[in-house]
Amino acid sequence: MTDTWNSADKFNREASQWDENPQRRAVALGVAQAIIAAVKPAETMRALEFGCGTGLVSMEIAPLVKTLSAVDTSPEMLAVLQEKIGTFGITNIETSCTNLSASTESAFNEQQFELIYSSMTLHHIDDTAAFLNSISALLSSGGIVALADLDLEDGLFHDDPNEKVHYGFDRSELAALLNGAGLLVTSFETIYTFNKKNRAGINAAYPLFLVTATKKQSVTSF
Ligand SMILES: C[S@@+](CC[C@H](N)C(=O)[O-])C[C@H]1O[C@@H](n2cnc3c(N)ncnc32)[C@H](O)[C@@H]1O
Repeated sequence: MTDTWNSADKFNREASQWDENPQRRAVALGVAQAIIAAVKPAETMRALEFGCGTGLVSMEIAPLVKTLSAVDTSPEMLAVLQEKIGTFGITNIETSCTNLSASTESAFNEQQFELIYSSMTLHHIDDTAAFLNSISALLSSGGIVALADLDLEDGLFHDDPNEKVHYGFDRSELAALLNGAGLLVTSFETIYTFNKKNRAGINAAYPLFLVTATKKQSVTSF
């Protein structure tokens, strides 16, 4: 497993103001609604969000599932979510400061999930193929993964040119990686378009996809 491009310092610094950005809140709500429509979360499901941040998406999903593991590498982002959990008396979200891409010995090795999702986090993780394998190992048979992220972009979406990120994803390539991790793609849709002034100062449109995939059933041979 390779190390991550984790930028916990950056997200720690941004955590206290994260929710103040209206576009972030709109994207998170759009992602949550798209996941709910595509996956139909059920009260029997154990769910996990990686890169949950302040929980903008998971606060929408939590009421619909049995348990929710909210995972992030930034303690400050998780502290904001923890405050919401306390304020609203939420009993089924557990936060975890864990880097799923850094170790196979993760806190979740013994656990299985029926639903794993993320929003705008996959492009922050260096080795996509290895990471999808880790995620697949955490899914129960028939479990669902739902990933929202940027389509291939011009490399100008992020304001900081030194931030290590993937410049979005080619849908066919990502589908092949999911397939290689034992995950069968069931849908790929455009769910939102960021309209923003990019790093070059140009107004540009950056579409966001949601891909869903199901863990293939293991075949028993006789
Ligand atoms: C762009 S933010 C998105 C946060 C949240 N999903 C939202 O939509 O508001 C990316 C998040 O992923 C987290 N992150 C980056 N690398 C990670 C990793 N390897 N494992 C877990 N979280 C990670 C960051 O700390 C940050 O909170």
